[in-house]
Amino acid sequence: MKKVLFVCLGNICRSPVAEGVFNHQIRNLKLTGALQSDSAGTAGYHIGEKPHTTSASVAASYGVTLNHRARQFSRTDFADFDIIVCMDRGNYTHVLREAATPEEKAKVFLMRQWESGPEPCDVKNAEEVPDPYYGGVDGFHLVHQILETCNRNLISWLSR
Ligand code: 4NP
Repeated sequence: MKKVLFVCLGNICRSPVAEGVFNHQIRNLKLTGALQSDSAGTAGYHIGEKPHTTSASVAASYGVTLNHRARQFSRTDFADFDIIVCMDRGNYTHVLREAATPEEKAKVFLMRQWESGPEPCDVKNAEEVPDPYYGGVDGFHLVHQILETCNRNLISWLSR
């Protein structure tokens, strides 16, 4: 079993969608015996909350149901997950700073390293998943579409 943790700031907009899309895709690919995912936020503002209503309604329009309650990233996640996939450079820096060993550091990625194919690109060249929290519904659609593409490639990489 390989376990993936998706991380953003609040754990109500981007990372719960990353988790929901990942779980939807692995169910369709019959890979639920091999792969698992969860999500967390680097901040504690929204602990216990359901995903943002627009994230949830946009996900539903793509056939994806979100079942998550926000929680905060913790150092114990390094032991519980094989890789930690961050949405933007702020989250990435936060998680890397918490890593205590080279092995823990090696678990940390940016989601858009999987934009172009199953082999992750150099982290220096990866874009961020834009934070849709302060914008309109179009931003939530863009996030959803980015996460569908990247998850398809991430799942191929994890299944190789
Ligand atoms: P997320 O979006 O990191 O994708 O969950 C945000 C959610 C909440 C806040 C910022 C970003 N906030 O400032 O409360």
